[in-house]
Amino acid sequence: MMTMVITFIKTLVLLLLFTLTSASASAPAPEVVSRIAFGSCANQSSPQPIWDAILDYKPHVFIWLGDNIYGDIRRPFKLFGNDRTIGPWKNVPRFVPSSYDQMKSKYDIAKTNHGYARLRHIAKVIGTWDDHDYGLNDAGKEFKHKDINQKLMLDFLDEPPNSPRRKQAGVYASYTFGPEGRRIKVILLDTRYHRDPLRSDGTILGTAQWTWLKRELNSQPSEITVIGSSIQVISNLSACTGPLFYMESWGRFPSERKRLFKLISDSKRDGVFFISGDVHFGEITRFDCATGYPLYDITASGLTQAVEKVIPSFLHFVVRFLAWITPTTMRVINNNCKRKSCTYGQPNFGVIEVNWDENPVSLKFEVRGVSGEAVNSVTTSLSDLQAKKGGFNNVKEGKQHCSLEADLPWLLRHRLAILFSLFVAVLIVVQVGVLYVAISLMVKCLRKCKLD
Ligand SMILES: [Fe+2]
Repeated sequence: MMTMVITFIKTLVLLLLFTLTSASASAPAPEVVSRIAFGSCANQSSPQPIWDAILDYKPHVFIWLGDNIYGDIRRPFKLFGNDRTIGPWKNVPRFVPSSYDQMKSKYDIAKTNHGYARLRHIAKVIGTWDDHDYGLNDAGKEFKHKDINQKLMLDFLDEPPNSPRRKQAGVYASYTFGPEGRRIKVILLDTRYHRDPLRSDGTILGTAQWTWLKRELNSQPSEITVIGSSIQVISNLSACTGPLFYMESWGRFPSERKRLFKLISDSKRDGVFFISGDVHFGEITRFDCATGYPLYDITASGLTQAVEKVIPSFLHFVVRFLAWITPTTMRVINNNCKRKSCTYGQPNFGVIEVNWDENPVSLKFEVRGVSGEAVNSVTTSLSDLQAKKGGFNNVKEGKQHCSLEADLPWLLRHRLAILFSLFVAVLIVVQVGVLYVAISLMVKCLRKCKLD
């Protein structure tokens, strides 16, 4: 009788443990992973219909690339009055950090979103962070709340209590999926915790993370290696949009980016590519002069936040035109793009699809819209992501993506700023002209009235 009771209690405890585990952690990845989805920039307070398209894709793994919640508080644009957030006379910052309780409740909203909750049941969910879930817009190593926010972010991702990730400074991590011959290694970087100030050309990763990354790239081989970075690695649009506006990217830390490319090249690791978020549009870029094979960067941004969502639809053509005329040396321009510029400014997510049965193994990179339709895509093969003696098969293509944006001729690089300045100048001239004509007419009229 006693044995039966003990067995019953044991079964009950096991059942309870199973229920608790399956309720908290995301689904495990299958033995062979061939479908990965990823995304960034999801405002927990906005509707998130894009989860339906991600669920339809049935990914084995889903990767968060940052701004998984918008944790900081954004004050409204205010030019005059007490709390001025813009202009040279601004007296308060535009963004301020949330309290611990505010951050926690924002994570609770994100985690209980119906679509995301369903995704956690069918896919293994992993991720890193960017500035808004780190706690403050554009923040780096100086941010005071980083340790407490690291705990909250790891709770959101169901990181086990004894995970080394909870004891280290920063949320970087690596995962390997699949059996030998079909291994996918995912390396997730932390571009916030150790990052020096913008314009310093200092470090992004910090000493400990660089040592870890070198070990990861030189250890156990994998057929495919995905490096997830919250900010773009290959594209450096800021070199062409400044001084009008700047975006964060590895390109703004040139020494650090050179070091990253050299580390990959020195590791002799084939099949490496990047995925990124942050910029609120989707695009696919590539750099051909770092490793002896094209280094792709698939940017998917954002799940809810997108450039075209913040302006009225009748002005979308302006955004698309500006994206089209902004010079870029890295963006992949092909016939698979929905927009002429090959950027996509509506909500989107990214997809990596591997056909392990094909010979050579084929890879498809896609940016997909809210209905699941591909808006940008590139198909390549694993054999094309292997360093070849003598360089590229297609010399013309190889040369196309080899010059950095920062090295473009001055006039071409500043095309956007020049066009904008010309537009403002014409506007001022027209206004002065109209004013001159109005005053002249008034003076003429006054003289005529006097004579009469
Ligand atoms: Fe964002």
